[in-house]
Amino acid sequence: MAYSETKVVLGGLAHIPIIIGFFYLIRRQYSFGAMLRTGKNALSEKIKTAPAKAAAPAKAAAPAKAAAPAKAAAKKPHADVPVNTYKPKAPFTGTVTENYSALKEGAIGKVQHITFDLSGGDPEFKYVEGQSCGILAAGEDAKGKPHRPRLYSIASTRYGDNFAGNTLSLCVRQLQYEKDGETINGVCSTYLCNLSPGDKVQISGPVGKEMLLPEEEDSNIIMLATGTGIAPMRAYLRRMFEPTEIEKHKWNFKGKAWLFMGAPKTANLLYDADFEHYKSKFPENLRYTKAISREQKNTKGGRMYIQDRVLEYAEEIFNMIENPKTHIYLCGLKGMEPGIDEAMSTAAAAKGLDWSELRPKLRKAGRWHAETY
Ligand code: FAD
Ligand code: A2P
Repeated sequence: MAYSETKVVLGGLAHIPIIIGFFYLIRRQYSFGAMLRTGKNALSEKIKTAPAKAAAPAKAAAPAKAAAPAKAAAKKPHADVPVNTYKPKAPFTGTVTENYSALKEGAIGKVQHITFDLSGGDPEFKYVEGQSCGILAAGEDAKGKPHRPRLYSIASTRYGDNFAGNTLSLCVRQLQYEKDGETINGVCSTYLCNLSPGDKVQISGPVGKEMLLPEEEDSNIIMLATGTGIAPMRAYLRRMFEPTEIEKHKWNFKGKAWLFMGAPKTANLLYDADFEHYKSKFPENLRYTKAISREQKNTKGGRMYIQDRVLEYAEEIFNMIENPKTHIYLCGLKGMEPGIDEAMSTAAAAKGLDWSELRPKLRKAGRWHAETY
């Protein structure tokens, strides 16, 4: 049977929807298979991701924009305090201007007050009260390597002992102990104690933000120091009560300061005359309580340590701690920490408080500052 040309064309055209339908079915089948294999439906993915895409910029932009000014306003306290201006690998070279004994006749051991000229640094070596610095003793260790730096609390204010803002002072006890019948001298403390004016010394830092003073003029400051732990406290007390300091910085301390100082003998009390002088000038603002371990006895007949004094004045100390403006600073022998903790626990318990809970809270609030070594 012969078909006309028109019939052939029309018949061919009639197959087109069938072919399209066939390809459509194959594509669908393939998509379904893929969905089964991956567990994902391309369409549902699109639906799910679409709003997310739209929301993303809003989510990122909106809170970020809102948070930025809040962050700037809540600038961390002491954010501007310099840290590590001079690293141990590239230290500053200071010059000794003074090195004298901080002890009186009859004292035990050797403790020196040492001052360094910091001028000429680029960048300048600046620090604030409560920071430490590193000292790199001259010479080499047993392996022929440079001595590792030792840390020392800075005993001067940012204005320095001469108020010119270009010096740094330390209070250093020479470490000495007996081993196998021989006297061993500490490397860095001996190096420092034996320096003479004009000597050049490698200094790194400043370091540390743990022991900084609060900025509020009406803060209360309780200080617990043993031996050279007095170094940062000397800087605080000069900042608070030294007339030229007050003129310089315009920070007029209005709170209560209470220094507890532990020393083996009266002759070992460091900077005692200065503190007595401040106390006589500012009796409303400064209390000064001494624990002289080898001259005074505690209630049990043992050596009088500062923790014994803490117990003696527990009631007043805790009344102060209850005030959120009160900060506590602890510095000196590592061994004093358990004793202080025990005394604080007893004192807290007498007020119905739990020291193990209170201490972390004080620390978190930035009111408990400890640096022991
Ligand atoms: P090293 O030669 O280093 O000898 C110390 C080592 O001797 C010890 O590690 C131990 O192994 C050994 N040793 C010590 N005693 C004995 C012993 N009785 N028996 C057997 N072995 C022993 N010191 C100050 O004088 N003033 C400060 O203001 C001051 N501030 C500090 C601040 C901070 C933050 C820190 C961490 C430490 C501070 N120190 C301070 C301590 C100082 O850093 C040194 O550790 C100290 O001067 C001793 O160093 P050295 O090089 O003389 O002794
Ligand atoms: P002591 O040596 O009589 O036992 P320095 O550094 O000038 O020697 O002063 C440290 C002071 O701290 C000394 O009076 C010393 O007393 C005292 N001390 C020693 N051990 C402790 C301790 N665990 N807790 C509190 N004070 C201590």
